[in-house]
Amino acid sequence: MAKQSANGKRPWHLTPLVAMSDAQYQQWVDLLEARTGIFLPPERKSFLLTSLSTRIRELNHKDYASYYRYLLSGKEGDVEWEVLVDRLTVHETRFFRDQHSLDLISKNFLPDYLADSGDPVRVWSVGCATGEEPYTLAMLLDDYMRKERAGRGFFVSATDISLGALAAAMRGRYRNNRGANLPAEYAERYTRRVDSDYFEVNHDLRQQVSFTQFNVIKPAQARPEEMDIIYCQNLLIYFKRERRVAILEHLIKHLRPGGILILGPGEITNWNNPLMKSMACPATLAFQRRADTVNEQGGGA
Ligand SMILES: C[S@@+](CC[C@H](N)C(=O)[O-])C[C@H]1O[C@@H](n2cnc3c(N)ncnc32)[C@H](O)[C@@H]1O
Repeated sequence: MAKQSANGKRPWHLTPLVAMSDAQYQQWVDLLEARTGIFLPPERKSFLLTSLSTRIRELNHKDYASYYRYLLSGKEGDVEWEVLVDRLTVHETRFFRDQHSLDLISKNFLPDYLADSGDPVRVWSVGCATGEEPYTLAMLLDDYMRKERAGRGFFVSATDISLGALAAAMRGRYRNNRGANLPAEYAERYTRRVDSDYFEVNHDLRQQVSFTQFNVIKPAQARPEEMDIIYCQNLLIYFKRERRVAILEHLIKHLRPGGILILGPGEITNWNNPLMKSMACPATLAFQRRADTVNEQGGGA
């Protein structure tokens, strides 16, 4: 429910401009879906109206239609689109969000991988939001390598569509309450206090993580690398099923044989691909690329 100001009215930035017709709503839904894959169901209409109204007022546009035209108006519109995408994407995330999936990496995947390969471990966090997920993965890997004295390097490549989220992620600075889920041992080793309100991820760990803008529905933009782990949680939920399947078909081309794809539990049902076998681990949704499979183009998509 919108907050009331002292005079009993909603603050202006929460007040929808004017009603939006169903046809106009559909136009915005189509634009968002065509450019990001995100599908806004009718129950999200008020979210769209509030986000658009805020931005329209900030820019002094007259109405939805003039803002829509502006967005499609070439270079300036493209710059504005990045701002709007940041407003319309949900960046909810936290450190150590899904312990079952992290256990799958440290208990099932890494022991076998390190026994078989001398290469650094390459991880891709897809839809990394403000960075808590890729930093969690980096902490987990660093901790594992130390404890096992594995002497093996690792890289975490983190991508997201939102430039605002990526900028926050690169900064690696968080309010103290964002660290509530960080085990004390990790907080001690991998973060430092900035002031009474903020902590930040240590420089050395930040160096292990790279951040790049990448739109999952534009597969051609992806770097042609082979990954050992693709971690893609709480992203597919925003897409329709056929889009989810298309994204997965693309992502797995970036897995080396034996590599694993970890999704959020329940993010796709009844999905099979001949390259992949499902992994039976409690409370996780994960697939492993079969060892005897090769990519047609020798690696990337
Ligand atoms: C809810 S967050 C998930 C963050 C993290 N993976 C987690 O599970 O904690 C979803 C992220 O997906 C990103 N996203 C949405 N559509 C995208 C797209 N088409 N390509 C890449 N990232 C996208 C959003 O910007 C947002 O940061």
